[in-house]
Amino acid sequence: MAAPFLLAQISDPHLGEKAKHGVKSKACLRAVVAALGRVPDPIGAVLVTGDVSEHGSKKEYALARELIGELGVPIYVLPGNHDDRATMRASFGIPGEGDAVIDYAVDLGPLRLVVIDSMIPGEDRGGFDQGQLERFDGELAASPKPAIVAMHHPPLVTTMPDWDNVIMPPAEREVLAAVIARHPQVKAIVGGHLHRVTVSTLAGRPVLAAPCTYLPVRPDFGAETVTSYGGPPGFAIHALRGEELATQVEILTDA
Ligand SMILES: [Fe+2]
Ligand SMILES: [Fe+2]
Repeated sequence: MAAPFLLAQISDPHLGEKAKHGVKSKACLRAVVAALGRVPDPIGAVLVTGDVSEHGSKKEYALARELIGELGVPIYVLPGNHDDRATMRASFGIPGEGDAVIDYAVDLGPLRLVVIDSMIPGEDRGGFDQGQLERFDGELAASPKPAIVAMHHPPLVTTMPDWDNVIMPPAEREVLAAVIARHPQVKAIVGGHLHRVTVSTLAGRPVLAAPCTYLPVRPDFGAETVTSYGGPPGFAIHALRGEELATQVEILTDA
């Protein structure tokens, strides 16, 4: 049987954030990259779903490139609420101008990665403008290839009050769902931002908030403020074979 195509997903490295709860962001990303390096199967590409840096600085992005670059595979990034579009764009050679939204689609062998930028500068919550959604619809219409849609703010509801104030608002989820409903080849929608593995659905497709590399958040459905802790980093691997996609999540309890 043919080997699957593997897309690794790293999220929320927050490089440049000061050490908290006894852990360092750089060491966490290093541990994730090392663990990905130990996966015996070839990884086709790495997707980093935002909050790559804490302060959006050139130095933090250069460090991200250096650390993740050790895997020797193409790296695809998108902005989170801690990122700076213009600096991220310049650092990773992303097409487009300055601080324009970072939306793109790329063919990765048998898999298409379609990125839509959910970052709103100066805000923690996510959203899009109308033009983005129209272009996104066009990108999905352009190819019937199995696709993963990626953004920082996962379009789901957590029922944790503090998180639901800073995720994708219901109206934004609805318009996104209406677009995705028209494109049956979308196999999954993936994001980060929550610093917890969270799974839901949108337009009948799975939605995954991938594990973070830095400072997971504890489950607490009554708390007004989420609590992070120095828990282990993790990553996800999306495996596509033919038309079938499955996602594995790895938490580095030995990191
Ligand atoms: Fe984050
Ligand atoms: Fe975030």
